[in-house]
Amino acid sequence: MKLLVANWKLNPVSVKEAVRIASSIEAASDKGVEVAVCPSFVHAAAVKGVLKKARLGAQNVSVADKGAYTGEVSARMLKDAGVLYVIVGHSERRKMGETSDVVQMKVKKALTAGLRVILCVGEENREDHGYVSFIKEEVVSALRGTPQRLANNVVIAYEPIWAVGSDMPDTPASMLEMAIYLRKIMFDLYGKKVAESLRVLYGGSVIAKNAAAFFTEGGVDGLLVGRSSLDPKQFAKIIKIAGQNGNKELKINN
Ligand code: PGA
Repeated sequence: MKLLVANWKLNPVSVKEAVRIASSIEAASDKGVEVAVCPSFVHAAAVKGVLKKARLGAQNVSVADKGAYTGEVSARMLKDAGVLYVIVGHSERRKMGETSDVVQMKVKKALTAGLRVILCVGEENREDHGYVSFIKEEVVSALRGTPQRLANNVVIAYEPIWAVGSDMPDTPASMLEMAIYLRKIMFDLYGKKVAESLRVLYGGSVIAKNAAAFFTEGGVDGLLVGRSSLDPKQFAKIIKIAGQNGNKELKINN
């Protein structure tokens, strides 16, 4: 089943508006598409209240479990609050100083608490020919210490940094290459079963107009959507497109 993740970032201001957008997303949700809404922590409970088919997600998680960590929210708190998915390693957080060691610790905490991780990776500059090995390093370092039995709960979102928030999406053709490459990395790390069931998402300036091509030509299992997920009409269209692109089973021959 395709997965659509609504990353609301630092929006909207009011609980009322969050509930309004979440209710529209819920109304547009389709049984054939998994939708995860990631509001701010303060809106999570109210948003959860209106979600039935759609899932609750979070945008961040602490490296710590409990204790003297002012301002932090732990993986177990998220789990207890009904969160299923958590975004880890988003480029906007890495830009604020989140290192690959911190990303690795967050992945581990989230998976251990029973959450599913949406691990974001992406290069700053496509012109840099080292970008492919940079992506590999991001995946490998984030999953250091993650055992095979938990690797199934990892979704990888490829989000080239230059495409996020920019109105310059990547092309479906290069996404396809990246989707194959990410599966190969997971195959090398965890074997065929994990690689086959891996869900690869694309993120970065997704709108209703460009969404279909990522499914039909880009080899993705879903999309991570920022700005367009705050516009219920746009997002409803994207849900419809994901539904039309339904279920395709992947088989890896070796
Ligand atoms: P955007 O954000 O869709 O607004 O480009 C994507 C993301 O940051 O996940």
